[in-house]
Amino acid sequence: MSSTHEEHPNHVPVYVKLAAVLGVVTAIEVAILQMPLPNAAMYVGMYSLAALKFGFVVAVFMHLKYDNKLLTGIFFSGFTIALATMVGLIALINYQPSKTSINVKDSKELAALSASGNAENGPAVFKSKGCTACHTISTVEGAVGQIGPKLDGLSETAKTRIAGKDAVAYIKESIEIPGAFVVKGYPAGLMPANLKQTMSDQEYNDLVAFLAKL
Ligand code: HEC
Repeated sequence: MSSTHEEHPNHVPVYVKLAAVLGVVTAIEVAILQMPLPNAAMYVGMYSLAALKFGFVVAVFMHLKYDNKLLTGIFFSGFTIALATMVGLIALINYQPSKTSINVKDSKELAALSASGNAENGPAVFKSKGCTACHTISTVEGAVGQIGPKLDGLSETAKTRIAGKDAVAYIKESIEIPGAFVVKGYPAGLMPANLKQTMSDQEYNDLVAFLAKL
């Protein structure tokens, strides 16, 4: 009795310390779960911390050297629950394949969209297809036409022209079907309706990409 007491004069504080340490490690685990880490990093982090927790608990357990079957049983059932929780959490982390694939698909579609048109080639198309005769763009040399609206700032004005139509859709429509929306103060039927047919798909995409950035 007295020897047990001498060996473990502070056993209650040890439990408290253990609880505090486990609480901190768990807080770190929760923090890691919130981070947008790749799965591999997540696994390594979570497994390391789980091992760390296990180590702490075992160290305290060994230290206390309770040779008591009931306590051992309680400890290991507790550990089993903790382990099952970890496995469950890791399974949850892993169970996001659909979300990940949607993100990948979105970014691929975005990349494909921006890759289809090379805006840097837009001014050359704009000049060679005669748009400069009627439209002014201050950044394009020779584009000083006054017959049609000035296209500076088109990325902004295009959005406001037709409700529900974004800039790119509006720009495409104003080239393919110029009569669909006639800008106030300008004559209808003046802008040729066959301009798209005079270009390759690549030229058209380059032109639209360029106009959408004005
Ligand atoms: C013969 C003159 C003429 C030519 C050539 C012409 N346009 Fe136009 N364009 C106009 C006129 C006039 C309007 C305004 C009336 C309308 O909306 O149809 C206009 C409108 C537009 C608009 C809508 C602008 C806005 O503020 O809403 C865009 C975009 C446009 N043109 C692009 C082009 C492009 C690109 C080319 C060359 C491939 C081109 N235009 C060639 C006369 C022309």
